[in-house]
Amino acid sequence: MRAIEAEGLRKVFGRVVALDGVSFTVEEGEVFGLLGPNGAGKTTTISILTTLIRPTSGSARVWGYDVRTETSKVRSVIGLVPQDLTVDDELTGLENLRLMAALYHVPKDVAERRIEEVLELVDLKEAAGRRVETYSGGMRKRLELAAALVHRPKVLFLDEPTLGLDVQTRAHIWDYIRRLVREEQLTVLMTTHYMDEADANCDRIAVIDRGRIMAIGTPRELKVKHGSDVIELEVQGDGFDLQNLVKGVEGVTDVRVSGNRISVRVVRGEEVLPELMRRMISSGLSVSRIEMRRPTLDEVFIALTGRSIREEQGSWEEVFRQSMNVRRVRA
Ligand SMILES: Nc1ncnc2c1ncn2[C@@H]1O[C@H](COP(=O)(O)OP(=O)(O)OP(=O)(O)O)[C@@H](O)[C@H]1O
Ligand SMILES: [Mg+2]
Repeated sequence: MRAIEAEGLRKVFGRVVALDGVSFTVEEGEVFGLLGPNGAGKTTTISILTTLIRPTSGSARVWGYDVRTETSKVRSVIGLVPQDLTVDDELTGLENLRLMAALYHVPKDVAERRIEEVLELVDLKEAAGRRVETYSGGMRKRLELAAALVHRPKVLFLDEPTLGLDVQTRAHIWDYIRRLVREEQLTVLMTTHYMDEADANCDRIAVIDRGRIMAIGTPRELKVKHGSDVIELEVQGDGFDLQNLVKGVEGVTDVRVSGNRISVRVVRGEEVLPELMRRMISSGLSVSRIEMRRPTLDEVFIALTGRSIREEQGSWEEVFRQSMNVRRVRA
């Protein structure tokens, strides 16, 4: 069964077109990533799928339910960890989870058992009796995860689950999410700015920019289609013409020469490297350095959007905006 089906989603806020015809499907049990720069439409997509806002046009189903006309059914099968923190600082972890269970009408005895389980799952048993204001950023995120799980959702939406956390904590959060997928047979739709995380944790990824989906595929498929391998060689010898040496080698898409170094973009590095080496050696050159790099998702992203995601996420405005959001929620 299809866990999520989105068809031609469009969302207009005043004069801003936030989504401009977004279509994709997510299969049951899949971890699906929405990757895109600030303002791409990631949160808007999640808000529509979780029934928080209505699309201007287009349609979507979650677990078979229509997000426009069956909102309470949709809400009963989803969990949401929003981009901004929502747990209450002045309550304890346990109190937050009880509140969540009550909101979802989970019967009390069932809720107590389930809360035990989710606390165990995110390693917060010991800290459950403490007020959330004493928690670290990573602990808060784990509590948010637990809170989104008390009613046993089928589909979990994670909007930037690791934003602003240090590398180690990010890795931990991902351990928990992977465990959830395994142990609770969850379907996950997540957004992130971090390419390496999307690469490591998503079965499939949609790259989204300015409200449109630029590409969808497994991380490997995207890299093969939109990235290329790079081979770099450094040679020693006399009177070489490196540019000429690689002429006509099959699979080469770009060549750059600088002194005794040559950098070659190729479709499949392992197929081209032997031929390059053969040519170097037969012209009497010795190769003093070889390096082959696989494409990264960063490269895919730049190829698709013409921008680097890193340039944007560190901007001062973004940091400011995020901190204002947190403050607004706490106030
Ligand atoms: N409530 C709103 N009113 C007006 N414009 C909005 C509203 N919500 C979002 N937008 C605009 O819609 C576009 C998409 O925003 P969205 O929050 O979906 O982006 P995002 O991909 O989640 O970005 P980020 O990485 O910063 O979280 C942006 O141009 C944003 O300014
Ligand atoms: Mg967002």
